[in-house]
Formats: sequence, C-alpha cells, structure tokens
Amino acid sequence: MFGPVLLAASRSDGIRRLVSTAPVTRPVVNRFVAGEQLDPCLQAVRSLTGRGLQVTLDHLGEDTTDRTEALRNRDAYLALAQALAEEGLGTRAEMSVKLSAFGQALPGGHDVALANARPVVEAAAEAGTTVTLDMEAHHTVDSTLAVLAELRTGHPQTGAVLQSCLFRTEEDAVALSGEGSRVRLVKGAYNEPAAVAHQRKADVDRAYVRCLKILMSGKGYPMVGSHDPRMVAIAQELARRLGRKHDEFEFQMLYGIRDAEQQRLAAEGHRVRVYVPYGTDWYAYFMRRLAERPANLGFFLRSLATR
Ligand code: FDA
Repeated sequence: MFGPVLLAASRSDGIRRLVSTAPVTRPVVNRFVAGEQLDPCLQAVRSLTGRGLQVTLDHLGEDTTDRTEALRNRDAYLALAQALAEEGLGTRAEMSVKLSAFGQALPGGHDVALANARPVVEAAAEAGTTVTLDMEAHHTVDSTLAVLAELRTGHPQTGAVLQSCLFRTEEDAVALSGEGSRVRLVKGAYNEPAAVAHQRKADVDRAYVRCLKILMSGKGYPMVGSHDPRMVAIAQELARRLGRKHDEFEFQMLYGIRDAEQQRLAAEGHRVRVYVPYGTDWYAYFMRRLAERPANLGFFLRSLATR
C-alpha cells in the first residue's frame, strides 16, 4: 500500500529536502548506505570481503540533468576503480553504474552516457574488475541494453540488470543468455505502468522464476539478485538440476539486508556478492528500500518515534 507513495516521494524534491536534512534520518540511512565518502565505504568493503563475501560498489547518483554533474559522477567511478586497484580488491569488488547518473536523460543522452561509461569500463578492466549496468525505469531499458552491447564489444565481461516485473524481460533474458554474458536478475524497484509491467507481486515472482530458468539454462553467468528465500531456493535447485557449479553463478543481495543469509550462503560455498552503495546522493535509493518492504518503513518510523 505504501510502496507506490514512497516511490512517488523518491522523485519529489520537496520531500527529498525534508528527509535528507532531518537528523533522525541518518542512523536509518546508515543501515543501507556504507557512508557518504569512499573511505568509510572501503572499510565496509574490507569487512565484507574479510568474511568471504564479494561486493559490487555503487557511487550513489541518478537522474542527472546536468552535464557537469554527469562528468563528476564519471570521475567518482574513475577514482573508485583506482582505489580498488590500489587496495588489490579487483578480484572481489566490481562496480555498479546507473547510466542516468552519467547523463542518459540529457538531450543526446544515450551518447553522453556511453561516452562517460566507456572510460569507467576501461578503468575497471585495468583494475582487474568489471562493471554491471543497473537497470532503471522502463523507458531507459532499450538505451541501456544498446550501451551494454557497445561496451561489450571491447569488454565482453560488462554486465547488466534485468527486471522480471517488465513484460519484455523474458525476451531480453533469452537475448542475454549467451556465452560470456553476465546478467543480474532482479524483480524491479520502480513504479511501472500496467502497459509494460506486471502489477501483482505473484506475477512478478512467477516471471522471475521463468527468467531465472532461461538464464540458468543458458551459457552466461547468472547473478541472482534477490533476498527472497523462495527465489534463492529455486536458484539452488535449478543449479543442481542443470549441473551448474558454485562458481558458475552467484547470489547478490543489498548492503544491510539479510546479512545472516548472505553469510549462510557463502558458508555453503556459494559466491555471494553484496551491493554496497555510498555517497551523498542517497535519497532515492533509500526511499526505494523503504518502498520495498513495510518492515523497513516501520524501522524508519520507530526510529523517528524514539527521538
Ligand atoms: P521481495 O521484496 O519480493 O521480498 C520477498 C521476500 O524476501 C520477503 O517476503 C522476505 O522474506 C525477504 N526479504 C526481502 N527483503 C528483506 C529484508 N529486508 N529483510 C528480511 N527479509 C527480506 N532493482 C532495479 O530495478 N534495478 C536494479 O539495477 C537493481 N539492482 C539490484 C541489485 C541487487 C544486488 C539487489 C539484491 C536488488 C536490486 N534491485 C534493483 C532491487 C530489486 O529490484 C528489488 O526491488 C529488491 O531486491 C526487492 O526484491 P526481492 O527479490 O529482494 O524480494
């Protein structure tokens, strides 16, 4: 019930100012965001990798409407790639990029985003790691997949996210199930219209399983992005049935969500990657986490009430 309201609020500048400046918000944000600067984030990364987990780092930012800001976002990722190289984290840490932070929504945005993403993908390769393109609202999917195709010509290990809520995704999954492809399958965190997306959670879940079957039986590297115990169990069962070894797919979960489950899966020998966001532009990301789960909203409201 609150989900759509919170997702609408995630795009409101007025509510952004209110929530971002309220001192009570901070401790709750800290549960989902690994710091505003790179240093505390790297500390969190060291702690996670020290416990046998892998990470993908997200420098927070999205929906950029300014070219200079898009360049700043690109530069933040270049600095991140350098830090990962210096820390020798390349084999355990990759980077997640939102093309809207690189200028995808600007006039001529497709080319702007591609031009900004290219040096980041190159820097990632030099650091011994790679990039996964996050997927945003449905009208960006064609552009994001076209950027992916361009980037993969030089750097075939570049990955992308597919969202099972969208009707088109089964076809996209088939197209991206080939050799060398890396796909993170998620349910989808955006408020999408009925013309393009399943509206009932049960339908999104069923579509997730269908897409998972396509990816797991394909030749690529599936990345199972879900906290849902049912999806985790189905992925394990599919891997067993299809003879996929533990290093031929991975689980991914968000920082601060189901930590014990992340640890449990890693202890069973699975590859588990934690999506670690950092930076000052945390508002929209934070609101999507509240929208996903009433318990997260309750946690936020309780922290307001106890102050
Ligand atoms: P869902 O929200 O359907 O919950 C199902 C069940 O999971 C719950 O009933 C509960 O049992 C368990 N669960 C969920 N959250 C829990 C919690 N906090 N604590 C305990 N149990 C919990 N989206 C997008 O549109 N584009 C993107 O690029 C990405 N990227 C991305 C990366 C990674 C690594 C992840 C894990 C997710 C994303 N997402 C995303 C977000 C994704 O689309 C989705 O909104 C959330 O993952 C929530 O869906 P779930 O499948 O996790 O479970």
